[in-house]
Amino acid sequence: MTVTRAAAEFRAWATIDLHALRNNLALARARQPEASVVAVAKANAYGHGLLPVARALQSQLRPGDCFGVATLEEGLALRAAGIAEDIVLLEGVVTPDELRRALAARLQLVLHSDYQLRDLLALFALVPPADALTLWLKVDTGMHRLGLSQDEFATTWRALHGHPSVSRLRVMTHFACADDPASEMTRQQLDVLSAALAGAGVQPGDCELSVAASAAIQQWPDSHFQWLRPGIMLYGGAAILAENAVDRGLRPVMTLHSRIMAIKHVKAGETLGYGASYRCEQDQRIGIVSIGYGDGYPRHAPSGTPVLVICRQDSRNVLLRAPLCGRVSMDMLIVDLSGCDQIAVGDEVILWGEGLPADDIARLSGTIAYELFCQVTPRVHYVYI
Ligand SMILES: Cc1ncc(COP(=O)(O)O)c(C=O)c1O
Repeated sequence: MTVTRAAAEFRAWATIDLHALRNNLALARARQPEASVVAVAKANAYGHGLLPVARALQSQLRPGDCFGVATLEEGLALRAAGIAEDIVLLEGVVTPDELRRALAARLQLVLHSDYQLRDLLALFALVPPADALTLWLKVDTGMHRLGLSQDEFATTWRALHGHPSVSRLRVMTHFACADDPASEMTRQQLDVLSAALAGAGVQPGDCELSVAASAAIQQWPDSHFQWLRPGIMLYGGAAILAENAVDRGLRPVMTLHSRIMAIKHVKAGETLGYGASYRCEQDQRIGIVSIGYGDGYPRHAPSGTPVLVICRQDSRNVLLRAPLCGRVSMDMLIVDLSGCDQIAVGDEVILWGEGLPADDIARLSGTIAYELFCQVTPRVHYVYI
């Protein structure tokens, strides 16, 4: 992957470590080496860049593994870039026109609603596909977002199993609470899945199952079956409540950087930033960092949220933690540099990533690393390493 411009030219940039990405895929696979993998790269690969991520993972996919994206547009973007591997549209398609476009691009469909079966059978009757299709039937086992009810699943299975235009039927579901080790729901959802398969007369061995996303890959081995569907763990984020991904050996893929653009001395009693919500209890040396919510840094990060400043000391780089002070603005945020006299204008700041887990910043901001990564805006330059 080429680094197009030196990071030093940018006010805010994200380095994307493709070695870490591959390392994380290997860790996911190691949980069930015999299973195939749907490498989930929806939402611009969780904000990491769809095409660079897909290209970096291509060499790691085994024959039969897939990329997973949410939308038709994402699948078509991969095909337009020459990605030839199997691609699953995890949300399926809604209209007959989308169905035709998806099949023309050899995208695999998830069927989650009865109207999709009608559209598909109508299309088969009109123009049978040149090559029989691999289809994924999604069962709603309790999350009640997408998925066929048990009855709908039985109808869909019977209509498509053995159909001349269908070569493979795979079955999938998605957990609501796999991130919570204490929840009963994951076990219940597995029971509902078994009941749906039995109700449709599906014998073990009749089809491959795909159930586990990152949380279940890491802590529900009973749900591994023939396919793993890792998303956030590929990018080095935590899928499990109260955990940090690094503690499971996952490496951060995105490190978000900026710079100190100004330094000030503020007297005790003065306030900082919008809303004057932060009052200095003593004289303070503060740094203004050139990144804000307009770049994707969470506005809800509270005072005290750490950033890392890389500064020069005795001709070596030293990492210092500095706490956020006051509200995050659109383009800037303020950090306390008291006791860090060596920090100077131009010093690099790490907002999350290597050395500062995105999971920690997310937790402090009342969100999850998934959202932090997806919310990085186009103002931030991406540097792939
Ligand atoms: C259907 C489906 N499978 C897999 C994933 C990947 O989940 P995770 O990022 O938690 O691994 C998602 C993400 O939301 C999903 O919606």
